[in-house]
Amino acid sequence: MCRVRRATPSTSLCYEGAVVLRFSVTTFGCQMNSHDSERMEELLRDGGGSRAGEGDADVIVLNTCSVREKAEQKLRSEVGRIGKLKRERPDLIVVVSGCMAQQEGAKLLARFPEIDLVLGPDNIAELPELLAEIRLGAPPFVRTEFDLERPQFLRAPNVVGSRPTAFVTTMKGCNERCSFCVVPYTRGPERYRPSDDVLAEIAQLAAAGVREVTLLGQTVNSYKDPKGLLARAPGCDPEDPDESEFAALLRAIAESATGLHRLRYTSPHPRHLTPSLIAAHRELALLPRHVHLPVQSGSDRVLKRMIRRHTRREYLERVARLWRAVPGVTLSTDIIVGFPGETAEDFEATLALIEEVGFVGVFAFKYSRRPNTPALRLDDEVAESVKAARLERIFATTEPLQQRHLASLVGTTCEVLIEGPSKSKPENLTGRSERNEIVHVADAAGLELRGKLVEVVVVEAFKHSLLAQLTAESRRSARAQTSSEPRRRSLPLVSVAS
Ligand code: 5AD
Repeated sequence: MCRVRRATPSTSLCYEGAVVLRFSVTTFGCQMNSHDSERMEELLRDGGGSRAGEGDADVIVLNTCSVREKAEQKLRSEVGRIGKLKRERPDLIVVVSGCMAQQEGAKLLARFPEIDLVLGPDNIAELPELLAEIRLGAPPFVRTEFDLERPQFLRAPNVVGSRPTAFVTTMKGCNERCSFCVVPYTRGPERYRPSDDVLAEIAQLAAAGVREVTLLGQTVNSYKDPKGLLARAPGCDPEDPDESEFAALLRAIAESATGLHRLRYTSPHPRHLTPSLIAAHRELALLPRHVHLPVQSGSDRVLKRMIRRHTRREYLERVARLWRAVPGVTLSTDIIVGFPGETAEDFEATLALIEEVGFVGVFAFKYSRRPNTPALRLDDEVAESVKAARLERIFATTEPLQQRHLASLVGTTCEVLIEGPSKSKPENLTGRSERNEIVHVADAAGLELRGKLVEVVVVEAFKHSLLAQLTAESRRSARAQTSSEPRRRSLPLVSVAS
């Protein structure tokens, strides 16, 4: 039997039936989902639980994505696999959370009898209580209510010295109605987090050693402070319907966040790359010289059918303004191939746009039909074989662009924020440049550089990353600090490069 449950949200973690649980959380999809998964793990740990492999877990959470059909197929095979574990251990609790949970709700319970709880993204805070109910014998149920009245934004606990980079949610949901996109239906309408709350979280993270914050939101640059706390940003035109308070938020963060080296954001919508945001890029040293700016197509006809609310020319104009304001800024993008009605000519326009902008990273996807989306009503579907061939051509166009860009950096100096040891070569450290390139720093193991900005010289370009060496100056100062500093729990504030 299954039922749709309408509980009153509570943040209390004291609940009847609480037991120490071993849990496993698997994440599919975007950074928003990774962020949500971490918050679920924290809630379970706060309740006395501990992380375990799926084979030993009492609770398995599958935090799902539904942005493309592939993600859905993945869930099916995962649930099938976990179903076997459940047959061996009937007490195992299986939770499906995230966008698929929101989208499918009770249908998931009907299709997969092994699922005990279907949990929407806005109901994560209730997870411990809902698990307790299941342990007490509640039948499988669905909890997928949007928190429209009092939106909640889960924040990371303040763990000193844990990681030099962190995500901070500034808004959730989406009011755009791009015709291909399921997000407005799985994440609900836009809700913004008060700016004082965002600033407080960033200040805490910076005090704990975080050096790079990425602001998260489905259309992150449509931000407006619900408390009206932000002053109007320079360059802001209140008559412009594309204006938001995002530039004002960036400025407020830059003014107040001591210790932060970089402030990134994802994912912006091109129509909100307004003059005020471009001015912020020009003036704020905290903003790196890289923007991920999804364009989806280079054809006006397709952009219109996608309901993107900008033309190819408008996109290029905004990008040109950004280039003028921030020389050397690099761009990456998202592209959909095979959108209904996309002709060979439309596709050529997309390839031409990629060349014209010179994107250093392209995330390209074959269009897939998503439930509830307006594009379902469009005909002229593109054949799978055509989509596959177009995807290949996108890769063939973008790989050389990326290669050329990375090769052009050999011999140049750049600043890298060190994140930790390289996975493949422990004697190297890995970090990102201000343009977001992955940089492996050779022969740097043993130096206390995590969370620091170091100056390096690029010595080699690989397919998707760079190899670099510390400059003589940064090696000297890193050595001096490493030998004089006792190991500290919090990450040092000083940057090696002066
Ligand atoms: N089909 C294919 N790709 C999609 N995306 C979103 N919806 C779809 C869809 N129905 C892609 C877009 C978006 C990225 C996160 O996923 O390119 O920017």
